[in-house]
Amino acid sequence: LPKEHSLIIEAHELLAKFYHHLLMNTNEGARALDYLLKRGFTKESIQKFKVGYSLPEWDFAVKFLENRGFTHDLMEKAGLLSIREKDGSYFDRFRDRLMFPLHDSKGRIVAFSARALTEENQPKYLNTPETVLFNKSSLLYNYYNARAHIRRQGNVVLFEGFADVISADSAEVKNCVAVMGTALTEKHIQLLNRLTNSVTLCFDSDSAGAEAAYRSGQMLANYGIEINVVILPDKLDPDDYIRKYGPEKFREHVIGNAQTWMAYKLHYFRKGKNLQNEGEKLWFIEKALVEIGKLENAVERELYLRQLSDEFSLSLEALVEQQSQMNVTREKKQQKNIDQKNINQQNIPQP
Ligand code: CTP
Ligand code: MN
Ligand code: MN
Ligand code: MN
Ligand code: MN
Repeated sequence: LPKEHSLIIEAHELLAKFYHHLLMNTNEGARALDYLLKRGFTKESIQKFKVGYSLPEWDFAVKFLENRGFTHDLMEKAGLLSIREKDGSYFDRFRDRLMFPLHDSKGRIVAFSARALTEENQPKYLNTPETVLFNKSSLLYNYYNARAHIRRQGNVVLFEGFADVISADSAEVKNCVAVMGTALTEKHIQLLNRLTNSVTLCFDSDSAGAEAAYRSGQMLANYGIEINVVILPDKLDPDDYIRKYGPEKFREHVIGNAQTWMAYKLHYFRKGKNLQNEGEKLWFIEKALVEIGKLENAVERELYLRQLSDEFSLSLEALVEQQSQMNVTREKKQQKNIDQKNINQQNIPQP
């Protein structure tokens, strides 16, 4: 490990410890602690996740690290400082915020995500910028803590945010990680795929969350990973849900009743559509038939075809015929593309 990397980690570990101390044991941190407790975080989970508080000062981290022999150059490379444009002087990047340490897959703190305590303070979350050790789209929050649980249970629950992970963990759902509000990446999938072949998506139940679940599911499906999707009611996110309905209901009725990927896709295609309308109905049936056609299991295919047939009062035969016609059309289109390519190639003027 290059010297610089271990110094960056050391700086984060020291700061995280001090931020945590400020939150738990000082008057300065009392307001932040109060915020967390009012939100329903337990002291136990605050300790487990080493949540902290950064003081509303311009040079707290700078001084703290200077005193321990760290150079400004290193602090800057660690993403802990910002620079004043007018004179090039330094100030703390994180001030007056809740500090969530971010651990890499080896359990070392490499970055922070810092939450504002009030609505006026924007952005809501301020993260460490990209550094040699931190890239937002390749880190999964709580990966290191959760890995043994994920292996043991043969499944991972994937959330959007920190609060969701911390709440789920205290609701005894320990096999959980979060992307940090970003889209799921190939790198994330590789990390998960090392541990399990089964992912339960549990995103916020707003439209952004629904889109993210669909896109993430498509990516995971390409890796042959088994996917289940949790659909939460009333625009709640998992953390809100746990607070409102309690841990038991979350575990049993939510995680325990996650939809299969196929069922989720049908739910997703239905959303915002008026299936009384002939055109939208036909569109939905075609979408559904394409997806059902992709299922490898014949029994499963039949099961979903029967559901469609029941719902729209169509005969199974008509659905199967439509499905094979769609296959023929698709093949014809593909053939046409190939023919067109050949023609285009023939038309290339000879030298
Ligand atoms: N996020 C971010 N920057 C923002 C907003 C969100 O990095 N300005 C990331 C955070 O990692 C956050 C996740 O996206 O946890 C999901 O965003 P959101 O659902 O808005 O936040 P919550 O996790 O629900 O946070 P809270 O409950 O504290 O509002
Ligand atoms: Mn640690
Ligand atoms: Mn969200
Ligand atoms: Mn959320
Ligand atoms: Mn939330």
